[in-house]
Amino acid sequence: MIYSRIVGTGSYLPPKVMTNHDFAARLETSDAWIRERTGIVQRHIADKSQTSSDLALEAARQALKAADVKADAIDLIIVATSTPDFVFPSTACLLQAKLGTKGSAAFDVQAVCSGFVYGLATADAMIKSGAYKKALVIGAEVFSRILDWNDRGTCVLFGDGAGAVVLAAGDKPGIHASVLRADGSYAGILSVPGNVCGGNITGSPFLQMDGQAVFKFAVRVLDESARETLAAAGMKVEDVDWLIPHQANVRILEATARKAGIAREKLVVTVDHHGNTSAASVPLALDEYIRAGKIRPGERVLLQGVGGGFTWGSSLVTL
Ligand code: ACO
Repeated sequence: MIYSRIVGTGSYLPPKVMTNHDFAARLETSDAWIRERTGIVQRHIADKSQTSSDLALEAARQALKAADVKADAIDLIIVATSTPDFVFPSTACLLQAKLGTKGSAAFDVQAVCSGFVYGLATADAMIKSGAYKKALVIGAEVFSRILDWNDRGTCVLFGDGAGAVVLAAGDKPGIHASVLRADGSYAGILSVPGNVCGGNITGSPFLQMDGQAVFKFAVRVLDESARETLAAAGMKVEDVDWLIPHQANVRILEATARKAGIAREKLVVTVDHHGNTSAASVPLALDEYIRAGKIRPGERVLLQGVGGGFTWGSSLVTL
């Protein structure tokens, strides 16, 4: 039996930091409001010259180094992003060129904030099939580019960044189980309902959200997804050492852990200093906790995504 295993992680945050006070100086909001409702204190914002593939490149280099794997040994690249550099080619193909390699499969996954978990489950299945041996799975976003900076209800929530893992074929898991779900009838509660057509923007190029509907939906499906994935892996909630849900909002994270019966000490929280980085949030959090020596080899981590679509899903992983 072939399994896949995370053998290295990396991440990148653009140097520019924007605090809640920076928002309060230009919008009718306050540090207290943002902290209380979301737990967010600061977020990183990409420079105009940086694209998702640039952020992905930095994260990928770190992950390759941590895994002690050369870029040309990678035979599969999956980039999860809702803020690609171009309509096409894919950010994954642009990244492949920036890594200086050729020949691997390379494509993007569009599942918004669930993108990394969707990408990880896809790479796992492709490795288990025997067709691929080493994959780079990356979440990379410049969400700052799709925000209405005058809409205090949304612009304070998000940040930019990238997180990466190297996944390699092995004889023990690795990834125990992944469950992916979607319900397109909820497309309207979180969207960027625009496109490029005939040289013009059609619809809106800015993120729109029904915050309370998203909140309730996210807590419900994250709990259901945790249970479904543990059942698929034949494990119990006590087998989970760490829970890394998509970093949207501290209140969503705490409610999810509480509902799933996972202790607060096992809950990974980085949204306070990253903001919501969409597809990048889970691998960014994973890398931060691994590098800090908090998550250790052999520990079991439940990774969870939820986002626009609506999409959601989880992977149970032994590191
Ligand atoms: N500063 C000050 N006041 C604000 C701000 C702000 N940044 N944003 C909204 N308000 C105001 C509103 O205008 C409203 O004012 P009103 O009562 O005069 O009309 C008031 O605060 C209450 O607004 P609500 O939207 O009801 O506030 P709520 O308590 O629901 O908090 C929030 C809003 C933080 C967005 C919350 O709904 C939430 O966290 N939802 C989850 C959404 C989320 O995390 N989205 C991330 C993307 S989705 C994903 O990643 C899964």
